[in-house]
Formats: sequence, C-alpha cells, structure tokens
Amino acid sequence: MRVNVTVNGRPMTADDVWEGESLLYVLRERLGLPGAKNACEQGECGSCTVYLDGAPVCACLVAAGQAEGREVVTVEGLAVGGGPSGETGLHEVQRAFVDAGAVQCGFCTPGLVVQAHALLAGAEGVPPDADIREALAGNLCRCTGYEKILDAVRLAASRRHPHPPP
Ligand code: FES
Ligand code: FES
Repeated sequence: MRVNVTVNGRPMTADDVWEGESLLYVLRERLGLPGAKNACEQGECGSCTVYLDGAPVCACLVAAGQAEGREVVTVEGLAVGGGPSGETGLHEVQRAFVDAGAVQCGFCTPGLVVQAHALLAGAEGVPPDADIREALAGNLCRCTGYEKILDAVRLAASRRHPHPPP
C-alpha cells in the first residue's frame, strides 16, 4: 500500500508498504530518517518516540497505515531551525543533552529528547524532578543511570524561552 504522511513539515510518500509495517520501519527504512531508534519493537523502551499529531508515541507500535494523512515530527525535525544555539542547528533540548553529558551510547537519546521536548512544551519553568521522572518513565537508558538525563532536562528548562510545541 501507499502511505502519505507529513514528516517534519514535508509531505512524504512511502510505496509498497506491507500491512504489518510500523511507522518506525517506514521512517527509518523507507523515508531515510534513522533518528528514531529501534531497540525493542515492543513499546517497552521509548527509543522510537516521535510526535504523531503533536503527541509523543512509540513509533514501533503505530502501524504505518495509521499514520496516513497525519503529521509526524521526529528528532531530526526538532533540530530544524534549532534553538538559540543556531550555529549547530541543535534544538535547545538536544543541546542540553550534549552539554549535560547525558549522551553515552546515544541509543536512547532521540526518544528521550522528544519526550523531554513534550514535557517542556507543557511546563512552566523547571519542572519538579517527580514530573520529569514521570514523563520519562517509558524511556529506558542502559548507560547513564538517568541522573545526567535529569540534569539535561533541568538545564534545557532553565535555559529556555517560551517553548512552543512542534
Ligand atoms: S523500539 Fe519502540 S518502544 Fe522500544
Ligand atoms: S545512553 Fe546508552 S542507552 Fe542511554
């Protein structure tokens, strides 16, 4: 089947999509967007998190056909336009993960960045740690012990100006 989806603001089409294919597979293997990672393919790890019509979802759990006519924003899309650190093009949340040392192997990072972005889009100031932990509870990291990730979210929140949704 053919799937038409707007990804990071651009209309895209994937052809010959198999009925059982996930949105994650289409993004990575058909549309050339490897940012969202495939770790568990079972909705357990959050490494594949993308926005679907403005809400974070596990792309491995979304059938490609369900994305027909909808809007997807991936971690690559957050970088477009960047944040205040315009010289690199990184979004301020992405920059904070780098600056806080929250990226080790990096496999979990795209999903955490999208989920943290969603948290900050709906929060004023620096969210309490309990809110950050709850928001990121579905995103597993095997490397960092999570403290640097909390630091990154606090750093992004403390640096930001009003934080528009994607
Ligand atoms: S790959 Fe989707 S939740 Fe793990
Ligand atoms: S940095 Fe390796 S899994 Fe999180």
